[in-house]
Parts: sequence; structure tokens; C-alpha cells
Amino acid sequence: MHIPVKEWYNAVQTRYSHQKFSTKNIKAYTQKTLENTIYSLNQVYPEVRLELYKSSIQDILPALNGKYGNFTDSPAFLAIIIKDEGKHRWTKAGYIGEAAILEATADGLGTCWIGANFVQRKSLININLQPGEQLIAVSPLGYSSEGYSFTRHFISKLFPNRDRKDLELLCPNGYNDEWPGWVKNAIQTARAAPSRLNRQPWRFYYGDDRIVVDCAGEPSEYKRLECGIALLHIQIGAMDGGAEGNIEFGEVGLASFVKKHY
Ligand SMILES: Cc1cc2nc3c(=O)[nH]c(=O)nc-3n(C[C@H](O)[C@H](O)[C@H](O)COP(=O)(O)O)c2cc1C
Repeated sequence: MHIPVKEWYNAVQTRYSHQKFSTKNIKAYTQKTLENTIYSLNQVYPEVRLELYKSSIQDILPALNGKYGNFTDSPAFLAIIIKDEGKHRWTKAGYIGEAAILEATADGLGTCWIGANFVQRKSLININLQPGEQLIAVSPLGYSSEGYSFTRHFISKLFPNRDRKDLELLCPNGYNDEWPGWVKNAIQTARAAPSRLNRQPWRFYYGDDRIVVDCAGEPSEYKRLECGIALLHIQIGAMDGGAEGNIEFGEVGLASFVKKHY
């Protein structure tokens, strides 16, 4: 998968979850850029498919069975869809979904992951799921109408470690200041990842040029998804720190980034 490191690394620093949107349409150029990214992301894993709908998030929320917060209308939303079968599909969905979220952020759009227990008959639009597919998450897409000063964005600039767990807790075998720069950068980047109620279920382990992402406690479906989100952040932080490498699912933990040897 192609990762525009600089753009997505910056997007990690500026992204936060938005609930309020202007109804202004997404600029044609921005939409095209995002659609191109989504097209490429849809080639990565056969188990995961993203789709952009030019409908308001309000049209899909009634079909999601649950409490999601006070979202306003948005000009578009993203759907994250997986097949009913396939290894590591929840982790892959988090990884691919977050790639689209970071691209949208880099394109100047506000986003917010929303976990979905989707019931088509309650939806105001037809999502056109294929047999054997399941909609597992959505995100509104649009220009944020949340004011800048005193918003979480403003606060996050002042306090970059806002609301995030300590590194010692996130690295159960210990966090070591002597680790290579790319490893520390990767873990810092993963720390900023989004998760339900900001629970941050991911845990990180480093050794032998490998950063393992696993979750605390039983790996439920949504914890796997969230660890997939953190995995992409790990990869972006590692690459920003100068390491080339590959990701692996399973083997040890839920997934890993493994640095390449030359
Ligand atoms: C799988 C998932 C589901 C989420 N569901 C909701 C939701 O239903 N409503 C909401 O307002 N935020 C939701 N969020 C956003 C989190 O609350 C948010 O990521 C977390 O509080 C950290 O804040 P930040 O994204 O601004 O860094 C969800 C995030 C994830 C990853």
C-alpha cells in the first residue's frame, strides 16, 4: 500500500473527532483526490471495502442501532465494509479505514469513526451491500464547523499528549528511551490513534526490529479494528523516523511492523 508519509504523519497530529459539520459540499478536486485514494485502498485486501456516499451522516445514523452522539448533517460519509469471512479482516478494516480517515484529514476534511451495528431496513439510503458483506463503521466527511479557539484541536496543539495513556502502560514490557528513534516515533504516533471512548486498547512490544501491536484483554472485533488503526499509525511513525519495513498480521500479537534489513 502506498503511504504518503509526510501528509499522513501531519494528519495524525491534526486529526481529531468532529461531530459538527457545515453542509457545504466537498470541493470537486478534494472529492476526486479522496475517491482516488479509496479506489487504491480497495485493491489492498479483498476482505475490506470502503465506499464514499454523497449523503448526510444523518441518513445512515438511524440504521446503526445505538447511541453515537450529536452529529449534525454532513455532505458525505465513508462506509467501512468487510466480508463475513477472511483472516484478520477486522484488523485490516481498521488499517484501511484509518488510511482513508488520514487522507480525508490531509485533504482538509473533518472525520469521526463511528462503530456500526447496521440494520438496512432502518436506513434512509440504500447501502447496496453485497451478499456476505457487513457494514462495520462509518465516518461523516465534510468541513468542520467546530470553532477553532478552545476546541479540542486548539487544546491538542497545546497538550500533544492530551487524554492519552502513559507510554509505560502502553508498553507492558517497558518503554526504553534508548530504543532507536524510529521505534519511539512509531509508538508516539500510534498513541494519537482514535478508539471508542478513547479506551486505547492497544499495547506495543519492541524487539529484533519488530514492533508488535496487541490488545489488552480479550481481542473483541472492535479491539482488533482499533489495533488495525494503531498499526497504520505505527507504520507511518516508523517510516517518518526513517525505517522502511512491512506489516504482518498474526504470527506474534495481532499484527507487527517489521523493519527491513539491507
Ligand atoms: C471504532 C470507533 C468508534 C467510535 N465511535 C464513536 C461514536 O459513536 N461517537 C463519537 O462521537 N465518537 C466515536 N469515536 C471517536 C472516539 O470517541 C475518539 O476517537 C476518541 O475519543 C479520541 O478522540 P480523538 O479522535 O479526537 O483523538 C469512535 C472511534 C472509534 C475508533
